[in-house]
Amino acid sequence: MVNLKINNKEITVPEGTTVLEAAKQHNILIPNFCYMEGVHQIGSCRICVVEVEGAKTLQASCVTPVREGMVVRTNSARVRKARKILYELMLSDHPKDCLGCSRNQNCEFQQLGELIQVEEFRFEGQKSKNVVDDTSPSIVRDSSKCILCRRCVTMCNEMQGVGILNAQSRGFDTEIGPGEDLPLGSAACAYCGQCTTVCPVGALKEKDSTQAVWEALLDPSKTVMVQTAPAIRAALGEEFGYEPGTLVTGKMAGALREIGFDYVFDTNFAADLTIMEEGTEFLERIKSFFYQQNLMLPEFLKKVKIHLEGKEPTLPMITSCSPGWIKYIEHYYPELLGHLSTCKSPHMMLGALCKSYFAEKKGLDPKDIFVVSIMPCTAKKFEVTRPEMVNDGVPNVDAVLTTRELARMIKDAGVDFKNLADGQFDSPLGLSSGAADIFGTTGGVMEAAIRTVYEVVTGRELPFEQMHVKPIVGLDRIKTAALTIEGAKEEWRFLEGVTVNVAVTSGLKGAAQLLDEIKQGRSTYHFIEVMGCPGGCISGGGQPRPVNNEIRQKRLEAIYREDEGKALRKSHENPDIAKIYEDFLGKPLGHKSHDLLHTQYTTRSKY
Ligand code: FES
Repeated sequence: MVNLKINNKEITVPEGTTVLEAAKQHNILIPNFCYMEGVHQIGSCRICVVEVEGAKTLQASCVTPVREGMVVRTNSARVRKARKILYELMLSDHPKDCLGCSRNQNCEFQQLGELIQVEEFRFEGQKSKNVVDDTSPSIVRDSSKCILCRRCVTMCNEMQGVGILNAQSRGFDTEIGPGEDLPLGSAACAYCGQCTTVCPVGALKEKDSTQAVWEALLDPSKTVMVQTAPAIRAALGEEFGYEPGTLVTGKMAGALREIGFDYVFDTNFAADLTIMEEGTEFLERIKSFFYQQNLMLPEFLKKVKIHLEGKEPTLPMITSCSPGWIKYIEHYYPELLGHLSTCKSPHMMLGALCKSYFAEKKGLDPKDIFVVSIMPCTAKKFEVTRPEMVNDGVPNVDAVLTTRELARMIKDAGVDFKNLADGQFDSPLGLSSGAADIFGTTGGVMEAAIRTVYEVVTGRELPFEQMHVKPIVGLDRIKTAALTIEGAKEEWRFLEGVTVNVAVTSGLKGAAQLLDEIKQGRSTYHFIEVMGCPGGCISGGGQPRPVNNEIRQKRLEAIYREDEGKALRKSHENPDIAKIYEDFLGKPLGHKSHDLLHTQYTTRSKY
């Protein structure tokens, strides 16, 4: 432990702590822009400068480690003057068009200006290059607003391991963007949008779809249906002043009705459906795998049917719910696409059902239906443009709004969110189990699948206290579990005593690690869950800002609370799922499912 004084306050912190972190731990605010908890390496903005007794120059507190006996001042006249000048210099190269900016009143740059009382623009001069790149369907980059803090660079390189955003050119010409002057729409970007969650200003943001949704809502010829992803209910409240981790499921459904949607459905219904399809696909692949490896009982071999229609049944099977992850593997590991489950992501499944099953029920022409998905994710905006996501000539989903965009629409519509009575989802695409709720967090898809696969293979009910697969719960980058099958029923007897290895990762850096293991023949897993954003959908690229591990943890706990509060906690027990198979789909992996709920993938270039 190291003893030091900050602003005359005696504090003790572990060796290796930086001055900024030490101050934060003791509730002393040092303004900062480029600092990022856990991954910070370079101090580029210098806003966090402090005076250290004995040092000739001011020190960047985010990269200065504490020393025994150190005396630090964060508010001396010298510090205040330097901080203000640094801020004013940044401001001199900023458009100052706050009223027309989506980050107005939610901008760290604006907030600091208020804090340090900048009341006039003292420095005016040449402006650096102003590029608005809106070539991606998911993310807009506006270099005029960029303050070069490089948080997006750290996120893209250090946390996601993709490396699309970097500082291009030098000096006054420095600009953050893809190399070779490539527009984002042509770069091998996953569109995960994590850069938009850490950008302190309006330089990186989701592409706005609210106008398209308003137009559909105001068009009397359209029946407008909306669906909400599992992670929205655990984060939307933050936009209205609720504590992180507050569940607002009922208010969210109520607000959507107030805005004017004709039907309010729940993507969670399709998460249950995904488990039926993906769980069945996994068991089919396991059967085929054991067949190929000659591990099955000889008499069982005769009964095996490979349902994967001409495709190599490949293990490990990898989940396919996260479109940022899908785009990433298509660019960087196309040779491993056969490992992906063929399931569409849940909201695409629900969109396809809105325009087929539900349209049939209500006598609606699918062309007159407009489906809106409220998603925690910016990559979903790209996903809906994929040519594979079309059935009978109509797109499965017409528009995607992020949680942040939905909050803007609710405010724009004048809805008093806090005083809103709880609303309900519409039937039959609105009922879901707790297994569907946990799709919103890392480890949730795998746990949901295990709950169902366990009961299918053993024929026994999963005890309540074993519902959570604890080794795969939490925010670690890679989590694993080994599940040994005991008491398999007759049909699955060949799996008796077999240990199924599963792995879960969130964030693309972990995904790359698991894919490299597969490529090198070192992978020991049968089933892998990948979510493209660190922590999973709870901290997707479209979720409220700020996001850090404390907030991720609170949202994760909220998701598990939602699950634990449900009477139904396994996907196969959802009666509306049983009914849709009975009335419409037939069986998992059947002909109709294949047509509406499954997809294929595209090899893309890295360059
Ligand atoms: Fe320390 Fe930017 S926060 S240099």
